[in-house]
Amino acid sequence: MKKTKVLVGLASCGIAAGANKVYNKLKALQEADKLDIDLKITGCIGMCYREPLVEVIDETGSYLYGEIDEEKAVEIFDKHLKQNEIVKDYVVKSDLFESKDDSFWDGQVKIALRNCGVIDPENIEEYEEHDGYIAIKKILEGKISQEQVIKTVLDSGIRGRGGGGFPTGMKWRFAYNNKADTKYIICNADEGDPGAFMDRSLLEGDPHAVIEGLIIGSYAIDASEGVIYCRAEYPLAIKRLNIAIEQAREKGYLGKDIMGVKGFNFDLYVKEGAGAFVCGEETALMASIEGERGMPRKRPPFPAEAGLWGKPSNINNVETFANIP
Ligand SMILES: Cc1cc2nc3c(=O)[nH]c(=O)nc-3n(C[C@H](O)[C@H](O)[C@H](O)COP(=O)(O)O)c2cc1C
Repeated sequence: MKKTKVLVGLASCGIAAGANKVYNKLKALQEADKLDIDLKITGCIGMCYREPLVEVIDETGSYLYGEIDEEKAVEIFDKHLKQNEIVKDYVVKSDLFESKDDSFWDGQVKIALRNCGVIDPENIEEYEEHDGYIAIKKILEGKISQEQVIKTVLDSGIRGRGGGGFPTGMKWRFAYNNKADTKYIICNADEGDPGAFMDRSLLEGDPHAVIEGLIIGSYAIDASEGVIYCRAEYPLAIKRLNIAIEQAREKGYLGKDIMGVKGFNFDLYVKEGAGAFVCGEETALMASIEGERGMPRKRPPFPAEAGLWGKPSNINNVETFANIP
């Protein structure tokens, strides 16, 4: 018999609505009762307007409970988790019966956000269990060439998600063609657009997807160092990114001779930005990494020719990288 899984949405949206209290309450109840359930944290489940959200996945199906506080958490624990009695009044989504918010999900297909609200973002094994690091494994084990990787990205039709919509594969090809001893790959996680939180949701909910995209990009263009430029107003995203980077290093997805491939060296770090809208523009962003005032400069030269520290560089948005694997 499979253990009942209980997921609490602990992205910024959930935390702001009080999800930490709900998680702590469920944890305390579980420990007091020694109930054999799999209680986990997850990222943004998608219905921020119904936070705090708690999803129970048991043998019968999945039940998403919305607007849960500590009191309701106790009720869910006593009824659903201990007696298999669904608390229908709080269910906002289920695969077993209709609920009032069903229309919200109509037509939604999660692509970049595929793992958000599904996996624990602080656990690399959960990412691996959901086909994580499979794409880079396929490339390295199948000895797929850099040109072939770039062609695949080009053929996929993916265009930059940072706003400009420039074909990603074409950008990678420019960076690949500019030969240099050092090249950089940069992830733009500045997300300056007011009220836009898609990059934050991704970083908080599935940081490894972005890291895997960066590793694939580094392989394709020959970059040995990567930077994720993330605004300091995203402390949870930064925390989870740093945890994920450390885990990826321990597993050999980052560092020297990645996954046993001699000479494939790549590592990355998070650079915190002070939160200026203009620093989302790629040349201003690179100036900011260099410790200069964040001001755009004229092009040419383009970053693919002379970018960070004057070296060929490629910069893509968070969502672009998350789509790559
Ligand atoms: C003023 C200004 C602000 C920008 N802010 C962002 C931003 O916050 N995040 C982002 O990804 N791109 C931003 N861009 C676009 C970047 O310059 C760049 O085109 C993008 O990061 C490239 O990634 P992509 O090809 O994956 O879209 C901004 C551009 C301008 C002109």
